[in-house]
Amino acid sequence: MVLASELISAAGKAREKAYAPYSGYQVGAALLTAEGNIFSGANIENISSGLTICAERVAVFNAINSGYYQFTSLAVVGDSAQPVFPCGACCQVLWELAGDIEVIASNMQEEVLTVHLSRLLPHPFSPEKLTSPREYFK
Ligand code: THU
Repeated sequence: MVLASELISAAGKAREKAYAPYSGYQVGAALLTAEGNIFSGANIENISSGLTICAERVAVFNAINSGYYQFTSLAVVGDSAQPVFPCGACCQVLWELAGDIEVIASNMQEEVLTVHLSRLLPHPFSPEKLTSPREYFK
C-alpha cells in the first residue's frame, strides 16, 4: 500500500524534471493507480505560453499511455507558501480520465491539504451533458 507521504515524495522527485524557464515555477505530480503503480510528471513550458502543460496533465497522460485507467490519488508539489492544487483545466482533464480521486496538495515544506476532486470541480463538464453528435448534425 502506497502512503500519501510516498506519493508526495514521488511528486517532489518528478518536480526536479520540470522545464519551466519562463515562470521559474516548477511543479511535480504523482498519480497512484488502483494497482499500486505511480506515474509522475512535471510542468513543461513553451515560449508560446498557451502551449505549456501542467505537471498534473503530464502525469495522467503518462499513465493513460502506459495502459492504466483506474486511479485512487494524486499528489501535487510546488514551491509555494500554500499547498498547490491542480488548476481548473487540469481538474477537468483529471475528472474525465481519473474520476473522483483524492487530491493531495503539498508544498516544499510538506504542508498538506487533501480533498476529493469533486470538491475542486463540483460541476464538471461531463459526457452526459453533451448532445449526441448524431443529433447535432441532423
Ligand atoms: N502549473 C502546474 O504545472 N500545475 C499547477 O497546478 C499550477 C501551475 C505550472 C504551469 C506553468 O508552467 C507554471 O506552473 C506557472 O504557472
